Order: sequence, then structure tokens, then C-alpha cells
Amino acid sequence: CGIVGVVGVREATPLLFEALRRLEYRGYDSAGIATLVNGHIERRRAEGKLDNLGRVLELRGLPGVTGIGHTRWATHGAPTEGNAHPHGTERVSIVHNGIIENHAELRAELELQGQVFTTDTDTETVAQLVDLNLKQGMAPREAAHACLKRLHGAYALAMIFAGHRELMIGARHGAPLAVGFGDNEMFLGSDSLALSPLTRRIAYLADGDWAVVSRDGAEFFDMDGNAVVRQIRLSALAADAIGKDGYRHYMDKELHEHPLVIGQTLQRMIDPATRRVVLPELPFDLATIPRITVTACGSAFYAGLIGRYWLEAEARIPVDADVASELRYREPPLSKGGLGLMISQSGETADTLAALRSLRAGGQHVMSILNVPESTMARESDIVLDTIAGPEICVASTKAFTAQLSVLACLAIAIGRARGVIGEAREMELVQALLDLPSRAVELFGLGDDIRAAAAIIAEARDVLYLGRGSHFPVALEGALKLKEISYIHAEAYAAGEMKHGPIALIDKSVPVVASAPSGPLFEKTASNLQEAQARGGRLLVFTDPAGAARMGKIAERLVVLPEVHGFTAPILHSIAVQMLAYEVALLKGTDVDQPRNLAKSVTVE
Ligand code: G6P
Repeated sequence: CGIVGVVGVREATPLLFEALRRLEYRGYDSAGIATLVNGHIERRRAEGKLDNLGRVLELRGLPGVTGIGHTRWATHGAPTEGNAHPHGTERVSIVHNGIIENHAELRAELELQGQVFTTDTDTETVAQLVDLNLKQGMAPREAAHACLKRLHGAYALAMIFAGHRELMIGARHGAPLAVGFGDNEMFLGSDSLALSPLTRRIAYLADGDWAVVSRDGAEFFDMDGNAVVRQIRLSALAADAIGKDGYRHYMDKELHEHPLVIGQTLQRMIDPATRRVVLPELPFDLATIPRITVTACGSAFYAGLIGRYWLEAEARIPVDADVASELRYREPPLSKGGLGLMISQSGETADTLAALRSLRAGGQHVMSILNVPESTMARESDIVLDTIAGPEICVASTKAFTAQLSVLACLAIAIGRARGVIGEAREMELVQALLDLPSRAVELFGLGDDIRAAAAIIAEARDVLYLGRGSHFPVALEGALKLKEISYIHAEAYAAGEMKHGPIALIDKSVPVVASAPSGPLFEKTASNLQEAQARGGRLLVFTDPAGAARMGKIAERLVVLPEVHGFTAPILHSIAVQMLAYEVALLKGTDVDQPRNLAKSVTVE
């Protein structure tokens, strides 16, 4: 979900609406805007997409130069107009991301003091608390500060106050918020993307900060009310950086950016002169790390699983990998001086952030692979390895995933070298394989017809099975996840060898089987597993390479022959191919590709 706010001289509603459009990528299911009209708070809200809010605004305009806006992804309470933000009273209006954990207790207390609630939302508790403070005679900034001190949980907040045209207050605790500096106008936004057409001058609130924003500047405070200084940075995002560039969907555009993003990310990690992997200076010694614990959510976790194969095989280091929401509560015994490795596009995912904190508390060094350098995880890590993927707008991750893989591959090489298990020749070979990838990835776009033919079969199915072995097992997981996310077709991924231990019972003509099976040491075993499926009437759609084409051609109904690459980097290429397949299926199904139902880009609740 996303927050925007403006205090200035121009009509606020069009600015807020446009900024909300730029936050759409985060996923949402209702939206709303509030402004000050002749000193009074007025709001318009609508269930569903922004177009609905647009229609409401057309019928009943919303003038005013001070306002806040919100796109909401439902956590507590259905995505109805009534639950849509802004929430508030006649004195204050609030938009909020996150969860107020002590809302029930605060609500009981406020009701005893005579506050009358109109919704069941946790956000209204914040509004009612500020409202009570105002009624008791506090000025807005005291009322807001006193309220913030009482809140538990994770939040980003923006508020406006009746009768205060020149005032907006923002606060950040666990969910991101930025202040944008304009010319005689100021902004609040969940990220620099929302603010990019309005201003490039941005200051991020640190966790626990709150800011008093007027037309000509902002004052920042910590939770104790001490003034703090937050640096203004020039955001690198140009206003047009997030256009679709003529592509039908952001997902299509971002799929086509894979080669570029892999190349840019490798450039950051490979010295062009020596062709060796270079890492930033580390506050610990890679050679003596006893163990790595990888954790992430969603696609980023599958990148981590592929990374585990590389780290174990090439660097010979023990690796534990678990989704962040499980790792945290599993209480794994951690090795002293071990490395916690987080992977996240946004750097804000609440589960991953909580896992980061618990790994740190367990005495681990914390390294994060992130796409947003100013994110919360970046600030809380000992070391950050950047993915140079640029803004990823489609909710389903594509280019950030291969950028994560590029970093993980380099990391495996660096750790292998530090531990003395990768020699110079092997490093050269693997680096060459990586540098070869961008041009091989470009060739994938010539396979559209084959991928569309496979997609036509999947689009008719209710269930699909994805199979892979070794580092291609997580490719199958990523392929199945992407299909579920954007086409709403049920898909499951299995390690190919495990299929005979259960899922084989599902196989018949109506359950297509997608396999990622490049030539190599595991090829023949995967082919046998696929033959078992074919013998039971399964329709096989196989991604392989020229060396595997003849063998697979005998059993597969559809073959997609990917360019020949080194076995080390094959999972990266195959990941792009299964993502392309999901995209083609989604097109056939006519779904909302960039903003699939129920999903959010960055999930800041646990
Ligand atoms: C959400 C998104 C997924 C993403 C996951 C992790 O669930 O819908 O596409 O993979 O979060 O996000 P992160 O920003 O931590 O990579």
C-alpha cells in the first residue's frame, strides 16, 4: 500500500491522484484522498482500482492545496470503501501503512473517554487519539507526538489537520516514508517513485522519526521530540523512469530488461581488467565463516535456494535456507560468527526484516542483497550487495530475481576463492559464463512462438506440475509461483526425483508437466522422471538446450530449446524462460498482469 501527501499552492487532488498511480505497483484494493476545503477536512474514497476513485472525483471534485492520499492493501477488514483510508474525525485525517498492534487496548481507553469510533480499523485508533489530544487543547504537533509515543507496531503515517492549511505531519516506524522538497510546496510519499514527477529532492525519515512539514520546509524529530537532521538527497529516478516504454505491461518491459540488469549487476561485481569477482570491503573474514543462513520471502527466497546450490557446490560452505516467516520462529541453533544472508527486492518486507533482526540477535554477521539502497534492511545490515535492477513495478518479481541470482553467483565465487576451494582457472571459467549471460538472455526473446505454444496448453489447465533437479528445482518453484501469481492457475513444483513419491498420482492428460532440464550430469535422471510422467498420459512441456533437444524431443509434446550456456548459469536463463511462459499464459487468461489480485509488491506486515 502507499502513502502520499502534499502541502503547497497548486490543487492537491490531481497531484495526489497521479502519485497514487505511481504507487499502484505496490498492490492495493481500495484508495482514497482527503484535502482541506476552506479549512474543513473532506475526503473521497472508493473500493477497487484507482479508476473507481477517479470516477468518484469526477462526480464530486475535491479542491484544496493541502491533502493526503492512500492506496490500501487489506490486512484487517475487507477492502471496502468504509475501510479505505483516509480515516479520521472532523479535526484530523490520517493515512497509514502497517499495523497498530495495541489498537484494541487504545480503542477501549478512548471509548471510555468518550471518543466515538465509526470503523473497526486499527488506523482509526490513531485518528481518535490525536483527536482527543486536540480536544484537550494540544496543538497539532504536540497532539501527534503524544499519540505516536503510545503506538506499538509498524507504521508509516501522514496526517492533516482542520484549520491548518500549512501543515502536514508524517511519521515512520517500521514502514518507509520520505519527505519531498519542492518549490514552495512539500510532499510526503512511501517512496521516491511516488514523488518522482513532483521532485527529485528527497529526505528519508529514519525509523522512529516524525516530521512536521509546511509549504516551505520540514522539521524532523526523534521519538523523544529532539530535533534531528535528515539529509536531502537527489533521487536518481527521472520522472519517466517508470514508463512502460511502449510495452503492453510493466512485466513485459521488465522481462526485456533481464539482459541489461544482469549485465549492470555483474559490472558492479566483476573487475573488467582482472575478470575477478570483487566485493565491497567486509567487516568480517569470508574465509572463516562457518555457515551461511539464507532467508527471504517469495521469489527472493527461490533465488536464495539457487544460491544455496552454488554456495555449497562451489564454495563448499554449509548453507541453511528457510523462508523468513519460518526461520524466525524455528529457533535454529546458529554457529558463532556465521553469516545471515537476506535477499529482498524492496528491503522492506516485514518477515525478512524480522528475520534479519533475529539473526543479528543470534550473533550472525548480516549481509543483504537488495534493490533499494535506502531501505530499512540496507540500514540494518553490516554489508549490502546491490542488485542494479532499477525500479521493478510489476508486482510479480522478474528482473530483480535474476539480478539477485547474479549477485549470489558472484558471492559463491568470492567465498569459494576465500576458502581456497576455487582456483584461478575455475574462477575465470565461472566469470566467463556469467559475462556470457546477457547476450544469451537476449536470444530468449526469439523463442516467443515456442513459449506461446506451451502457454496455450497451460492456459487450458486447472493444475500444472513444474519439475526440476538440482539448481533447477528452485527454477521450477519460481516458474510455479509466477504462474500462480499472474494467471491464477494452480501450480506445484517438485524436485523431479520426488515426483514418483506422490504427485505422480495426479498425472493425466489434464495436468501439464513443465520441466526445466538442461543437459548436464542430472539430465538423464530428469529425463527418466519425465518419461514416467509421459507413460501415464502426462503432457510434457520441456525447457532444455541444444544438447538435450534430441532426447527430450522424443517424449515432450512441446520443446523450448534455450541457448547453450554453462551449467553454472543455466538456472538464470531457465528462470527467465519460465517467467516468460507465465506471462504468456496470463495474456491468454486476460488477467491483470501487473497488479494481480490480492498481491502486494512489498508486504510490510508479518
Ligand atoms: C511479495 C511480492 C513477491 C516478492 C516478495 C518478497 O510477496 O508479491 O513478488 O517476491 O514479496 O519481496 P521482497 O521485496 O522482499 O523481495
